[in-house]
Amino acid sequence: MDHLISPSLLAADFANLGNEVGMVNESVADWLHLDIMDGLFVPNISFGFPVLERVKELTAKPMDVHLMIVDPDRYLTRFRDAGTSILTVQYEACTHLHRTVTAIKELGMKAGVALNPHTPVSLLKNILPYVDLVMIMSVNPGFSGQKFIQESYNKIEVLREMIDSGGYEILIEVDGGVDMDNAHKLVKAGANILVAGASVFGAADPAEAIQRLKLLI
Ligand code: DX5
Ligand code: ZN
Repeated sequence: MDHLISPSLLAADFANLGNEVGMVNESVADWLHLDIMDGLFVPNISFGFPVLERVKELTAKPMDVHLMIVDPDRYLTRFRDAGTSILTVQYEACTHLHRTVTAIKELGMKAGVALNPHTPVSLLKNILPYVDLVMIMSVNPGFSGQKFIQESYNKIEVLREMIDSGGYEILIEVDGGVDMDNAHKLVKAGANILVAGASVFGAADPAEAIQRLKLLI
């Protein structure tokens, strides 16, 4: 399959959210990435339901919601009701990950699991049969505009091998520091979805930046 692009709204101009979402609508982006941070799991607070619900009214793309919050089980239904298509939880934030992933799917969303940079992909062995997507964090979650961690390539390659040899249909998403310098290598390593914040919204022409990530040119 062709890889997908999921621009991360965290790097957008929040005073201009309508225009920023409109730009993504008009672009070749496939999904819209929304980062939810609680100030506990990560040292930053982003935005919550009022923003998400408004974005849902504006966006033409599926909402790809990345939860960086402790105990996400408390809010799964609310994220579904806010219009989430793909809901990803952090492996490190879930004591009963199988229960969480099952609940997300029962609510009708695609279920993703994100791994912090220090968490090995081998820990996913027994949850892979239940997930739709694995997100490799290529920065420590919490902020846009951080430097890409090189070890991420190897994690994607190992995960790709685990998925293919197990016969699973699981998408690999990579999030953090993605730009035109590493996009091609990430797709080659086995990534299916590229999340990009600063390299899109910080570009002179964000729609063109999305197109370049999509076409890898
Ligand atoms: C980081 C977030 C990312 C972030 C990506 O915690 O999960 O989605 O917005 O931003 P860039 O692409 O600027 O690293
Ligand atoms: Zn994210």
